[in-house]
Amino acid sequence: MLEVIHISDTHFGPDRSLLIRGSNACARSEALVEAISALPFTPDLIVHTGDVVNDPDEGAYQLAAEVLAPLGVPVYYATGNHDDVGMMTSAMKFGPYESLIPGDEVLCYQMGGAAADSMELFVLDGKVPPEDGPHGFVSEDQIEAVLSRISGEKPVAVFLHYPLTPIGSAWIDEHLLVTNGDSIHERLRKKAGEHLRGIFSGHLHRGLQLFHHGVLQSGVSSPACEFSAGPGDDFCDFLTGGPIPFNHITFTEESTMVKSYALPFKGDC
Ligand SMILES: [Fe+2]
Repeated sequence: MLEVIHISDTHFGPDRSLLIRGSNACARSEALVEAISALPFTPDLIVHTGDVVNDPDEGAYQLAAEVLAPLGVPVYYATGNHDDVGMMTSAMKFGPYESLIPGDEVLCYQMGGAAADSMELFVLDGKVPPEDGPHGFVSEDQIEAVLSRISGEKPVAVFLHYPLTPIGSAWIDEHLLVTNGDSIHERLRKKAGEHLRGIFSGHLHRGLQLFHHGVLQSGVSSPACEFSAGPGDDFCDFLTGGPIPFNHITFTEESTMVKSYALPFKGDC
């Protein structure tokens, strides 16, 4: 059994004052850390699926590292479209992992350490140059590297910033997915078979539970602000003053359970 907390899209600014559409990103992440720390159990690990900061800035990563430090268990990060891999890996304290792609520009790895002994847990990097975004793309070498590590003997879970599959909301489906999501999904599903226990993402600033060809895709919202996701939306509205969201994922021998939290924020904004 593995107990995982899934968080995303904290969007830290260079100091504590950054407002995202009227909401204080830092204060809301502090509330997130407080809520996770108050849980009546200790998770084995925490995964942050990206957009740690709002703009790549060393001060913002330092602030993020300071605010998230009390979490006290191994934390893993995926690259969001707002992140910089070099700054993020220098500033943030990661749990043990093995990089699957050489160099320091792409953050694709398999989680390691005792907490990940019972599963094969992977993080993909879907970031593309800003002028090509905000949708993403996962390179072939990452997909091949992950597929080659799937042994067929342990449960598998994959984390990345971007959802893989259309969610039925026009603007999001056109702009916020990885453009090769179908291919990634099918290749993971074929290789891991029934061992594939879920694909987990952020980016939508919206909680998501989606089954595609029998595989769970689960997304967690942002503490900073939520996005609308109506069927005909030609843009997403920013919904401020929302709850503090995180997901508690439990992997057992037989099940993947996702328990979603949406806690009231008690600060000013
Ligand atoms: Fe974001």
